[in-house]
Amino acid sequence: MSKKLTFPDGFLWGGATAANQLEGAYNEDGRGLANVDVSPVGPDRVKIITGQVKHFDFDNEHFYPAKGAIDFYHHYKEDIALFAEMGFSTFRLSIAWSRIFPKGDEVEPNEAGLKFYEDVFKECRKYGIEPLVTITHFDIPMHLVTEYGGWRNRKVVTFYENLVTVLFNRYKGLVKYWLTFNEINVLLHAPFMGAGIAFEEGENRNQVLYTAAHHELLASAIATKIAHEVDPENKVGCMLAGGKFYPLTPKPEDVKAAMDQDRENYFFIDVQAHGEYPGYALKFFEREGLTIPIEEGDLDILKEHTVDFVSFSYYQTRAAEAHPADQTEANLLASAENPYLKKSDWGWAIDSLGFRITINELSDRYRKPLFVVENGLGAVDVPDENGYVADDYRIDYLDQHIRAMRDAINEDGVEMLGYTTWGPIDLVSAGTGEMKKRYGFIYVDRDNEGNGTLKRSKKKSFDWYKNVIASNGAYLD
Ligand code: BG6
Repeated sequence: MSKKLTFPDGFLWGGATAANQLEGAYNEDGRGLANVDVSPVGPDRVKIITGQVKHFDFDNEHFYPAKGAIDFYHHYKEDIALFAEMGFSTFRLSIAWSRIFPKGDEVEPNEAGLKFYEDVFKECRKYGIEPLVTITHFDIPMHLVTEYGGWRNRKVVTFYENLVTVLFNRYKGLVKYWLTFNEINVLLHAPFMGAGIAFEEGENRNQVLYTAAHHELLASAIATKIAHEVDPENKVGCMLAGGKFYPLTPKPEDVKAAMDQDRENYFFIDVQAHGEYPGYALKFFEREGLTIPIEEGDLDILKEHTVDFVSFSYYQTRAAEAHPADQTEANLLASAENPYLKKSDWGWAIDSLGFRITINELSDRYRKPLFVVENGLGAVDVPDENGYVADDYRIDYLDQHIRAMRDAINEDGVEMLGYTTWGPIDLVSAGTGEMKKRYGFIYVDRDNEGNGTLKRSKKKSFDWYKNVIASNGAYLD
């Protein structure tokens, strides 16, 4: 009998979340208002998170899901116990910036916010779970948006530096794995969510976006520097919204279109991993007449403080064509229809081989260890009369994807640190604000309008993932 294929020893298994999609308690213990709080559920959300419409406060017409989310703030012990029961060796979560610095530009941090995360990290450690911490996951204090214009303003780099200095010192010994910005490339597609940017009349969009990009890239390198100074054990990663663009046809112009679209995403990681602006980006800035506000010393910082590992989310591949006719929205990035792939309830292409291809491409391009920090299927779950969800569709999706990742390791020789599924417990969707779009192994009784008991219950996939982890992947065979 042939030996069953498993994952490397020490491979980290777990799940990934984000503060605003999980915690709730948006105004408790001194937390300040953030961009993510004022993004409602429903059709207006996309206009707001993409910065087309300015919406800087609450109104009575919309429901704001981040206010309460699934109330992890008060349920974290119960939730972490469930993750431990599944055998998690890592748990990805993010810090809500406005819990630590409610307005963002204060000198002194908010102790209650710091204490909350300290308690959460200690709870994880109690079970031997390694926290994997995203410093900002699409959030920025609203005060930095209204008073400074978000990440277009260089002062925000200093405020972020203050934030990370506090975090690295306070959580030294409790947290080792850090991600500087969630899906940094999403800044180009959803600038209010990615960078607190809503456009002013007549502004040059690309000038604003790539200014903000330079500021985030610089902030990321500064954070990497400080993390290593505070504790040489710290490992810092960048984070890409991954998923290759395929050319829709073998026509060379479509192949070129796919390369260009990939580069638009890889641009950020090229800087964070290689430490310099790639030639194709410099030429793009030149063609567009953009002036990137690079100050003295910036390029040295980028060069000297590259990331330790490359992390990414993977949900789907996309397709590119030189002269697009119809495009669909696929996790905020436009894509042509790939006729060979099935789709999720939300129209996202399902492509496990594309996962293996994406992993290989990132490995070849960066030659750094990889960490898959999001993967999963957003689906409508219907509990039976006993409240049980038999989510075989989710098991199928994850089974195929975990096998593909295993092939990337065992067949292709890629070095990988770990894998965290997105939303191990149902949470609010970033793209739509819905609760109905569920990813979890744990069902949460809450609907799109905020009704429900918040009761947690295990889905069928709960025991399945537990078995996968316990066997280090051998259960798949
Ligand atoms: C990623 C984000 O884009 O995809 C998560 O990092 C998000 O925050 C996830 O939740 C899934 O997207 P959605 O729109 O289904 O929540």
